[in-house]
Amino acid sequence: MVKKIKTCVFISGSGTNLKSLIRNSRDYNFPIKIELIISNNINANGLKYARKYNIPYKVFKYKSKIIFEKNCLLELKKRKIRFICLAGFMKVLSKKFIENFKYKIFNIHPSLLPKFKGINTHGRVLKSGEKFTGCTVHLVTSKLDSGKIILQKKISVLDNDTEKSLRERVLKQEHKLYAKAIRYTFG
Ligand code: GRF
Repeated sequence: MVKKIKTCVFISGSGTNLKSLIRNSRDYNFPIKIELIISNNINANGLKYARKYNIPYKVFKYKSKIIFEKNCLLELKKRKIRFICLAGFMKVLSKKFIENFKYKIFNIHPSLLPKFKGINTHGRVLKSGEKFTGCTVHLVTSKLDSGKIILQKKISVLDNDTEKSLRERVLKQEHKLYAKAIRYTFG
């Protein structure tokens, strides 16, 4: 593997996608190296993976979007980060941040975009009577869940599905899809 791409993962919560990205990135041939983890939430469960795998992390309070993004950009610049993965990150990055960062930013969303943008995805899928759902890795723009789609994985909605069972099945696919989308993009 040629030089790995210095990557930062943004989280807000459980961090299961982060855990999966960390595990994949330890593969010699995986194209990224997670150099930094940023969270807007000091209580994010995902921070335990930063500690477990000795990856530097920063928690920036989200008192204001401007201050949060300024703090992030300083850190990203300092560590020469060239790729960002949003992974269960629950804030919308501004147009200014995206323009200032200049490199790719991916996000994973638990639906088949452009359907079901935003939050409470699984509940809305069940309510809609959709027969299929899934997850999407897409480029991040300032418009929520609207950037160019990189890859998607489609799964059936089962008659006895609940929000919990659907979330768990989709999450399993997210973990695989994120790594696949990174390999697909960076070789
Ligand atoms: C995932 O469904 C992700 O797609 C969404 O937040 C959920 C939790 O992700 N954005 P994680 O376990 O924090 O990675």
